[in-house]
Amino acid sequence: MPSDLQGHDESSGTTRGSGLGASGRLRVAVLVSGGGTNLQALIDRAKDGMLEADIVCVGSDRASAYGLVRAREAGIPTFVVSYEKYLKGALDDPVDDAVLAAVDARQRILRDPDGEARRDRLRRLIAAEREILSHVEAHGAELVCLAGFMRLLTPFFLSRLKKNDRPGVVNIHPALLPAFPGQHGYRDTYRYGCKWGGITIHFVDEGEDTGPVIAQAVYPIWDEDACDDVQRRGLYLEHLMYAQVINWIARDKVRLVPRAGGRPRVCVEDPHYREVVGSWVEAAFRPSPEVEHRRT
Ligand code: GRF
Repeated sequence: MPSDLQGHDESSGTTRGSGLGASGRLRVAVLVSGGGTNLQALIDRAKDGMLEADIVCVGSDRASAYGLVRAREAGIPTFVVSYEKYLKGALDDPVDDAVLAAVDARQRILRDPDGEARRDRLRRLIAAEREILSHVEAHGAELVCLAGFMRLLTPFFLSRLKKNDRPGVVNIHPALLPAFPGQHGYRDTYRYGCKWGGITIHFVDEGEDTGPVIAQAVYPIWDEDACDDVQRRGLYLEHLMYAQVINWIARDKVRLVPRAGGRPRVCVEDPHYREVVGSWVEAAFRPSPEVEHRRT
């Protein structure tokens, strides 16, 4: 981590950087803002012994997120960080100016040309992120998986999670990036009239939905589909993919390969990689219980 982004409360990272947890398994924190069907799929995989990582905590920016209920029912510790509290009013614990300037120089999520306003917003996001990090680090999580978390993260947060050269935050996006970034991947794919939709799992970088792609898969969109059908078929695929990607990371099979003058490429060192991706697309092509069976 570059020293300019360390901030002043680095000491809270007691377990960070110590490698895998005592069990030898990757410790994962999941962040959600909504219903949490991806979280549920991960919980179900874990119960079936098919997740090679431990979900050590689930956090949200919304106390009402149903994902928190799913976590509690599974006995997973939860936490809520109110962004509203940080985005309005005075900040109790100011963010160091040098840290702020360094984060601002790297970030690509806030575009306000008014530097003062942009840095004020950034300061507040960092304050909220410090609270998230305090929970994540207290639980010894080494990887943060975003599963419908609707907040953009700054380089402050990302650099704290980075381990050696491996980015520490992963996101699942409901479109075939770089097509349709943003909050409405399914809707945008459907409205555009695409014949194929896609899912992307990627490392999170300093931009919005721009990070290195770890895995992608596609599903067909039929003429009779409504937008909801597209979303259901896509979510079915998301649930297949996320656990597999986490397992690859847990097995240390995911490599970020820098390329001169270009974006880094992610390589997955699994001899069964092609079969796995093929099985996703094949599964998405079959009539799914979530869509076609529901129609009958
Ligand atoms: C998913 O479509 C995911 O790709 C996107 O947010 C949605 C979350 O759904 N990032 P859920 O809360 O997991 O049901």
